[in-house]
Amino acid sequence: MDATTVTVTGAGGQIGYALLFRIAAGAMLGPDHPVRLRLLEIPQGLKSAEGAALELQDCAFPLLTDVEITDDPRVAFDGANIAMLVGARPRGAGMERADLLAANAGIFGPQGAALNEVAAADIRVVVVGNPANTNALIAAAAAPDIPGERFAALTRLDHDRALAQLAAALEAPVASLRGVAIWGNHSATQFPDVAHASVEGRPVLDALAEKLGGADAAASWLDDVFVPRVAGRGAEIISVRGSSSAASAANAAISHVHDLVHGTANEWTSAAVLSHGEYGVPAGLYSSAPVTSDGTAFRVVEGLDLDARGRARLDVSVAELVAERDAVRALGVI
Ligand code: NAI
Repeated sequence: MDATTVTVTGAGGQIGYALLFRIAAGAMLGPDHPVRLRLLEIPQGLKSAEGAALELQDCAFPLLTDVEITDDPRVAFDGANIAMLVGARPRGAGMERADLLAANAGIFGPQGAALNEVAAADIRVVVVGNPANTNALIAAAAAPDIPGERFAALTRLDHDRALAQLAAALEAPVASLRGVAIWGNHSATQFPDVAHASVEGRPVLDALAEKLGGADAAASWLDDVFVPRVAGRGAEIISVRGSSSAASAANAAISHVHDLVHGTANEWTSAAVLSHGEYGVPAGLYSSAPVTSDGTAFRVVEGLDLDARGRARLDVSVAELVAERDAVRALGVI
């Protein structure tokens, strides 16, 4: 079997360190699937990436055919089948949102252009670096020859956080849950939705009502505990751990690509994919939704009813995505 070329940007960072070894071990593409790693860093991150590469060598992974490190996106993405765009510019002290978007446009625009020029014909891209949805929009806009459906932003971590919180509240195994969804932006406005979810085949809303003493108590728990806990989990991890979630983000990125390329059968996961207008989300935005994969692309699960509460939450998050897109447009980036 030919090796799959996986390019990881920001490979010298925290998520990169948690990501590379599991990819090389076969957790993402499968236990029989050889992989070639390309690590992209900026000059000041190259040493850290080189250190990771030395350790990769010391693991003697049977599936890892080679590792290349570069600070040139055109080298990093040459022939890439999968690109995991992790490296991004964090928000500095006193940085306005427009400055953050502009700084990241300066990263994701050139990377999209390089992907357009040199990536393999079957390239799939997942954007992890924040603001992930809008960074995906910027990269895709800079890659006019790559179908926009090949890009996605990571909301799998939010999805997995929602599963874990629900499993804990219901005292049920994670594996017994189906139909959880993350809608909108990978930000505090996201909408983690359990309206269509089931536990052991039974509606989660019924199970929560039974557990918490009625439908009103279940609704309050969802609004006051579950949604803010999932949406605010990144901040909670930072305050407890002292730095941002890296291992769980890497795990989610691996699960995202795994499910994309292996398919999900009829199970849902969540990813921020290109909108074609589903659920009233303006076409062209990268907005999270429940998705399935047939092994080639994620598709939005259609035909779900959003109640007034869900609709209002999604509208708030989509308004934020529209504002980010408009700010990027105003910069002349897209
Ligand atoms: P980090 O700061 O440890 O690593 C980022 C790395 O990216 C650094 O080594 C830096 O040198 C590199 N980098 C910066 N600009 C680059 C460029 N133009 N090309 C290549 N590399 C570049 O950060 P960490 O913890 O690894 O997080 C990375 C990103 O992932 C952040 O934007 C973070 O907000 C985001 N994130 C996203 C999550 C999600 O669920 N979507 C969850 C957690 C983090």
